[in-house]
Amino acid sequence: MVFNIQPHEREIFNTVAKAARQCNVPAYVVGGYVRDRLLARPTDDIDFVCVGDGIRLAQVVASMLSPRPRVVVYSRFGTAMLRHNDMELEFVGARKESYRADSRKPDVEEGTLEDDQLRRDFTINALAVSLNDEDFGTILDPFDGLSHLEQKLLKTPIDPGQTFADDPLRMMRAIRFATQLDFRIEDETFQAISKYRNRIHIVSQERITAEMEKILASAKPSIGFKLLFNTGLLKIIFPEFVALHGVEVRNGIGHKDNFYHTLQVVDNLCHKSKDIWLRWAAMLHDIAKPPTKRFNDTEGWTFHGHENLGAAMVPRIFKKLRLPQNEHMKFVQKMVQLHLRPIALTQEEITDSAVRRLLFDAGDDIDALMLLAEADITSKNDTKVKKYLRNYQYLRQRLVEVEESDRMRNWQPPVSGIDIMNTFEIPPSREVGTIKNAIREAILDGEVKNTFEAAYGFMLEKGKELGLEAKHILTESTVETVEEKP
Ligand code: CTP
Repeated sequence: MVFNIQPHEREIFNTVAKAARQCNVPAYVVGGYVRDRLLARPTDDIDFVCVGDGIRLAQVVASMLSPRPRVVVYSRFGTAMLRHNDMELEFVGARKESYRADSRKPDVEEGTLEDDQLRRDFTINALAVSLNDEDFGTILDPFDGLSHLEQKLLKTPIDPGQTFADDPLRMMRAIRFATQLDFRIEDETFQAISKYRNRIHIVSQERITAEMEKILASAKPSIGFKLLFNTGLLKIIFPEFVALHGVEVRNGIGHKDNFYHTLQVVDNLCHKSKDIWLRWAAMLHDIAKPPTKRFNDTEGWTFHGHENLGAAMVPRIFKKLRLPQNEHMKFVQKMVQLHLRPIALTQEEITDSAVRRLLFDAGDDIDALMLLAEADITSKNDTKVKKYLRNYQYLRQRLVEVEESDRMRNWQPPVSGIDIMNTFEIPPSREVGTIKNAIREAILDGEVKNTFEAAYGFMLEKGKELGLEAKHILTESTVETVEEKP
């Protein structure tokens, strides 16, 4: 079969062919680029293999291009990279690899194209397009990769046990590709992943997490997480998540399976948002259900406080997965902490003060929180789902109305901690916090008006209750404006 070369590729393919002729080495386009182009997936990274010195080929190619690109050489890996027209071109000599049991780093020696194709992870990644005069543009497919692309099948070119033993990261890659491409993993390949799952221990956490994130960034992440679960990999790489699996029954009462529920929530959310951090929040929203699970005769199964414990678990999980300990993590924590709030609101009469409080607590993340809450509806009962969604629709409307009138999203109480300290001439102390909280709560509850005057009057009363004496009386025009977060 001949590769249908597109106009934007022609210049570069012809140039590499010319350079290869000059170096007297056969050259090929290989790997993920060929796969993605045949699947019509957008891709800009092209890998070239030559039977000879890949670094030299890259240098000759660069000398033929205008403007002449810089060649970045990775001598340790024997590869070279250059950029041209927004494309990243990578060059390497064909290689044969042999692995030791304790490392992902192979011993490498020069090889033929066939050796190079043989060492690759999946048949669909082992396709090559010739750039040589005798068969320019022909697809070289020694392992039926083309037919596997058609069948949507992931299969290793050689014995899967060998492929995965060579590089256990490929087990994660198999599942990631199955998710991204919606492909099936061929039975023997799948069984080998289960069998060799413990080999994942030699892979760095960063690489494991990168694959997990690619699964999570896919259109339907549940495909990948179910495969990870079914192969036993998930138990090794993310045991806290596996703990959500299963249903316990007591006195004839069962609870829902929180593993499948969570995956459904993640899939639902993915229809609405590409935000990877919100997707992590969906993954983790019920993470503390197993440790908070209780049974009692009146309520049945309860998971009281799972939102608080869940939020507390987020930093530990992020650390373990080598995810960043920064504002993204704080966002995930906040989402986990607040995920029950919208539903709680729709179950009672929606008062202005409850809406104000939700806006205040969620701030600018209110829209994300609403998306998460909506995704959290996984009932099989269509009437119930419609009812919940209608309630959310109403809540959204109320959120807009209250935000318009009260501007609560980034609200700060009109009297600050500094005002309290200056009035009573006291240092930072518990009293300051108590008074500040009381002011905030009273305004959020609608008991005190959201003005400096009203809040200040209320502050004086509270101070008196605590036995504090006002030494200075401030007015709105005498207070310093300070940004502070309650
Ligand atoms: N490869 C492999 N084993 C790995 C990683 C890569 O055999 N653990 C081979 C595959 O042939 C792959 C090629 O190297 O197609 C390029 O790898 P990479 O750029 O990491 O992956 P792609 O397949 O291009 O896909 P993606 O960019 O989505 O990771």
